[in-house]
Amino acid sequence: MPEAPVVLHAQGVSRRYAKGVMALSPVDLTVREGEFVTLLGPSGCGKTTLLRLMSGLDVPTTGTLTRAVDEDDLSYVFQDATLMPWASVRTNVRLPVDLTRGSGKRSAADAAQAVATALERVGLSDFADAFPRELSGGMRMRVSIARALVTAPRLLLMDEPFGALDDITRQHLDDELLALARKHRLTVVFVTHNVFEAVYLSTRVVVMSARPGRIVEDVNNDAPMRDAAFRGSPDFAMRAARLQAALLKGQQPGGQQPGALSAAGIGDTQP
Ligand SMILES: Nc1ncnc2c1ncn2[C@@H]1O[C@H](COP(=O)(O)OP(=O)(O)OP(=O)(O)O)[C@@H](O)[C@H]1O
Ligand SMILES: [Mg+2]
Repeated sequence: MPEAPVVLHAQGVSRRYAKGVMALSPVDLTVREGEFVTLLGPSGCGKTTLLRLMSGLDVPTTGTLTRAVDEDDLSYVFQDATLMPWASVRTNVRLPVDLTRGSGKRSAADAAQAVATALERVGLSDFADAFPRELSGGMRMRVSIARALVTAPRLLLMDEPFGALDDITRQHLDDELLALARKHRLTVVFVTHNVFEAVYLSTRVVVMSARPGRIVEDVNNDAPMRDAAFRGSPDFAMRAARLQAALLKGQQPGGQQPGALSAAGIGDTQP
């Protein structure tokens, strides 16, 4: 089978913030169409930093990042829900449609339908007229996911979208997300620090070290079925244990490559 087209390609991409904080060591990473790639790593290792670079919200300090999908075909789910507090759920979800409607792609009726469908997908049809302050934190996060889905993006960048949710809701949304990704052949880059969620969702898991983040392992996760039986299987537990071990390796000082912690280390810390 020929390889799917490249959607994202990072080469030697690093990020140093003002005051010299080295957030990301040079990273090489290629994401292909239809992949569900999870960035897994401890808090502060540069996951959000890398995702923002992929989205174009931020620019790398070194290296090059190319993306074969334009802005209208990309959605970003922020780690916090970031809703407009003065606007209803419906208006919040419709925002990206309004922003792209200039291209004449959608009528008002189409837009309303897209909003209704997106809200249904996250189980919030009854809250279209509510305001963000009237929702729980988890519900606000679901609104933010609906807002990302409403434009039917080809590339979805998601920063710990389900981190604040209870397990049952999280598992439900995991299943919804997988179904959507398959149906629309979405390419997804998903951030989490939860090994179980990574195993359940991903076709591939990129394990990152403690700050400054670098890739410690790039693990293929082509499991056949994603369902309750998979969650409870020895295969699932083994995959999770393997990721946990990789995470631990990236936490230990011995797991760091020489120079990874020093400012002079830029450029000589390839994964
Ligand atoms: N705008 C900024 N200015 C300065 N330093 C920053 C900025 N954003 C992030 N950092 C630093 O860069 C490092 C990586 O941050 P980042 O937000 O990418 O981590 P993360 O892996 O997403 O963590 P978490 O899992 O807690 O969300 C952290 O040490 C953080 O303090
Ligand atoms: Mg983050």
